[in-house]
Amino acid sequence: MFTDTHCHLYKEYYDDLDELITKIKNSSVNRVINNGCDRKSNEEVLSLIEKYDCMYGAIGIHPESVDTYKEEDLKDIEKHINDNKVVAIGEIGLDYHYGKENRLKQIDLFEKQLQLAEKYNKPVIVHSREATLDTIEILKKYKIKGVIHSFSGSYETACIYLKMGFVLGINGVITFKNCNLKEVVKKLSLKDIVLETDSPYLTPMPDRGKRNDSTYIVVIAEYIANLKNVALDELAMETNGNIKKIFDI
Ligand code: NI
Repeated sequence: MFTDTHCHLYKEYYDDLDELITKIKNSSVNRVINNGCDRKSNEEVLSLIEKYDCMYGAIGIHPESVDTYKEEDLKDIEKHINDNKVVAIGEIGLDYHYGKENRLKQIDLFEKQLQLAEKYNKPVIVHSREATLDTIEILKKYKIKGVIHSFSGSYETACIYLKMGFVLGINGVITFKNCNLKEVVKKLSLKDIVLETDSPYLTPMPDRGKRNDSTYIVVIAEYIANLKNVALDELAMETNGNIKKIFDI
């Protein structure tokens, strides 16, 4: 059985959530960690994890919401941080893809949430796009563990994160053509990775472009098992072990 450590299962993307959860439960995926990214999705995550046994939650403010979030949204995260089945602060981080104008504001928001994680001893789920150096410098300041979600960096960068106590979230990107991540994952140990879909985005090949969901974990797992020349069972066992070391699930 596999766990999808990173998805966004909200009504905004899925008008068929009940059916989808049934489909996920009937697949080889028995647990999902649903990641919030702003006030609205955090609230939805908190109510969905009460409804669905197989669902755990991460709540946080994504860097793309840096210009619209309010201080009280952070207070709400703190208020719910120890709720049953809230297993992490996420999705949080830095994203310079659309520019660096709000870099300092992003860093401030990221650090405020890292401080919460440290205070409550919670792991974090980190989004870092075109911001590797800042992400590393900032994470170094905190005693926290977690997942570098949608990792697609170099082997050298992977080693830095691993040394800091993080594991790397690998998703459908690994199946894309001309993707350097294959070579990086080949060199990594199974102890270094967890599996994720980032649904509804990043559907693996050959379905790239279609709507993603947590059942695609199996496609990603088969791809990695092949690449690493290990049995699917072994991959499931190792990655579930990694999850246990990071999250209280
Ligand atoms: Ni995400």
